[in-house]
Order: sequence, then structure tokens, then C-alpha cells
Amino acid sequence: MSKQKIEIQFEVFDHLSELPAEIQNLMEKAQVARENAYAPYSHFRVGAALLLLSGEVVSGNNQENAAYPSGLCAERVAVFAAGANFSNDPIIALAISARSEHQPTTEAIGPCGACRQSLAEYEQKQNSPIPIFFMGETGKINKVNSIADLLPFGFDAKNL
Ligand code: THU
Repeated sequence: MSKQKIEIQFEVFDHLSELPAEIQNLMEKAQVARENAYAPYSHFRVGAALLLLSGEVVSGNNQENAAYPSGLCAERVAVFAAGANFSNDPIIALAISARSEHQPTTEAIGPCGACRQSLAEYEQKQNSPIPIFFMGETGKINKVNSIADLLPFGFDAKNL
């Protein structure tokens, strides 16, 4: 038996102004997307914006449904749109912003497990890490360098 440890590194920024202009701009796009979310059931709005190598930005937001499981998270709406429309344009950054309509959202909110799995597929497909910046409505911004950091022991195609 051996005990092993997995560590991840992440950066915490107190304010958007500490980030490069292109990432500030990307987070603003995520915030705009967040406000356009269709979230009449949870009243929890999420926006995601992907920056592609070409400079193109693809955004998405959560889309809910009266049949609850038929809805989809912001991150997957965005990454599937990028996959559908810009399949050979690598993703170089992802910004996520979330807010509840019920309470102030001041904590950095990371993507859910299913979105981590979906995002990991695209990271592997393009063979380069996708830095992720995530935040609430206000407050600190967390950055991880790769989706792999958020999904230890992830399942992928090499397991098939
Ligand atoms: N949601 C996202 O859009 N992304 C996540 O990573 C977590 C949850 C959405 C799904 C649902 O519309 C609402 O937030 C509440 O779960």
C-alpha cells in the first residue's frame, strides 16, 4: 500500500483589473451571457465565454426546461457551440460567471462535474490545456490552468 496525494494549483485574483485585458473582456462577455440565461426554475444564472485562438469568442448560458433534466449548463452550451461551429479553432481560455437571484453570489463558482467531463473532452481533443477563470457575480476570481486540474482521475477515450 502507498499513500499518494494529488495537488492542484490555482490563482486567486481580488479584482478583474488584475487580469489581462483579453481575459477581462472575456469575463465581461460571460457576464452578459449570464444575464441572458434562461433560468426561470432555479433563478440561478450562469454565463460562460470561450476565447478561441482565432480571437473568436463563443458564449453560452444555462438553458432550463420545464422537464428539468432536459436543460443544459452554460459551460456545455458554450463548448458544444464552439465544437459545432469552430471545430478546428483551439480554445485558449474559458471565463465563467454565476449569480443567484435569491442571494448575493460572492464566491467563485466552478463548473459542475458533468461540465468538467465535457470540457475535458475538448482539452484532450485539442491537446492543449484550457485555462479557466471563474467567479460569482462579484468577489474574487479563481484561475486554474487546465480543466484536468478540476477533474482528477477523469475518464477519457484512452479508457475505451
Ligand atoms: N448550472 C450551470 O449552468 N453551470 C454549472 O456548472 C452549474 C449549474 C446551471 C444549471 C441550472 O440551470 C442552474 O445552474 C442551477 O443548477
